[in-house]
Amino acid sequence: MVIGLFITIDGIDGCGSTTHSKLLAGFLENKGYNVFLTREPTNSEIGKLLRIYLKNDKIPPETDALLFAADRSYHYLIDIKEKQEDGFIVISDRYKEASIVYQSVQSERISTKWIEEINKFAQDPDITIILDIDPAISLSRKTQKDLEKFENTPFLDKVREIYLERAKSQNYYVINSDDIIEFVQGKIQKLVLKHLKQKA
Ligand code: TYD
Repeated sequence: MVIGLFITIDGIDGCGSTTHSKLLAGFLENKGYNVFLTREPTNSEIGKLLRIYLKNDKIPPETDALLFAADRSYHYLIDIKEKQEDGFIVISDRYKEASIVYQSVQSERISTKWIEEINKFAQDPDITIILDIDPAISLSRKTQKDLEKFENTPFLDKVREIYLERAKSQNYYVINSDDIIEFVQGKIQKLVLKHLKQKA
């Protein structure tokens, strides 16, 4: 079965992208597909540095944007592209859309156009799914001491607004994730299966 579908799941912090990426990967594997599950920030040295910087609010937003783009170019060119060519279904827990949204909200000096430019080596996914949830609910799923620099309600309110605006203009799928996990996952599976049928 050779199908190189590239799916990304994104949304505000605590939206459930990690849980749903894992569940979707398991579901597709059970159906007999070869699946490559991956995430951003990646486990590369650049990704590890980014995870340290996520705890440090002194890092300039431009630096964050450039590092996320560097991490992503490595991720796409070294991992994703090859897996796609080998016919895997690639599922990335966060991808380019996170940079477009999070880094542009961080600073007025950062435009969507510039983020698209520095990320142009990373190919667009076939399917982008935005999990939508109220930040007050998503943050209540996290423990106070583990919070990263973006994990506060006023910032995430803006992030959510931009995700929803982008979803409208770019025709992304938006799924309400303030619901029973199985129900949300069922909706994700349904739309991915629809794409797989079209591709077959
Ligand atoms: P998250 O995906 O929640 O990972 P973890 O569960 O390990 O904390 O956190 C990644 C954070 O990085 C999240 O706040 C969004 C942010 N981010 C960006 O700002 N830009 C990006 O390009 C990416 C991929 C993530």
